[in-house]
Amino acid sequence: MQANLEKENAALEAVKLVRQDMTVGLGTGSTAEYAIHAIGRMVREGLRIKAVATSARTAALAAQYAIPLMAINEVEMIDLTIDGADEFTANLTLLKGGGGALLKEKIVAVKSRQVVIIADASKYVERLGKFRLPVEVIPDAANYVLRELTGKGAVRMQEGKPFVTDEGHHIIDVDFGLIADPHRIDTQLNNIVGVVEHGLFIGIASRVIMGVGEEVKIFN
Ligand code: 5RP
Repeated sequence: MQANLEKENAALEAVKLVRQDMTVGLGTGSTAEYAIHAIGRMVREGLRIKAVATSARTAALAAQYAIPLMAINEVEMIDLTIDGADEFTANLTLLKGGGGALLKEKIVAVKSRQVVIIADASKYVERLGKFRLPVEVIPDAANYVLRELTGKGAVRMQEGKPFVTDEGHHIIDVDFGLIADPHRIDTQLNNIVGVVEHGLFIGIASRVIMGVGEEVKIFN
């Protein structure tokens, strides 16, 4: 499938930035997994790094390659994080959290010197918002947050029950329509009691590497 080739090409380009003795943030999702497989192969061939994982799923994959993992809180600074996104714009604003890992993804990203986003071409948009914005909430606050979002949100479900994040929270996916002003939505969500974090990443990404057909395109 074309999208998978684009994801893999973007990932293979991104892992060229990994150097000996770096601390590397490992993202979550199908695109990030291509990078983890590639880094895993590099570790098997002698690359020496420490890594932090943005989800239990990512930690499990990293463990298969014996990539040495540290707790996020134990690392002072992360040299390079490679992660995916659900949508991105040319000015490197991201919408993330489709995989439900946005909280640790954002913590890892803000602790990183360089955040490289890898994506297939379908992820590029002129305006964010076709993909509903994931908002992570304390379960006891979910109904309150839904009310504050005036019908725009729905609790993410999995097998008939609310989806539970690695941190034991729920996700509300919110349809804001096309987002003209991400800063306004960021402020609005940060002011709702019970919201833990949301999937708008503003001013965090350093670069997006997008696979497009057989090529890769870089957004700086
Ligand atoms: C997980 C994420 C992912 O990066 C995002 O959902 C993209 O996933 P994929 O690479 O599978 O399309 O934010 O929380």
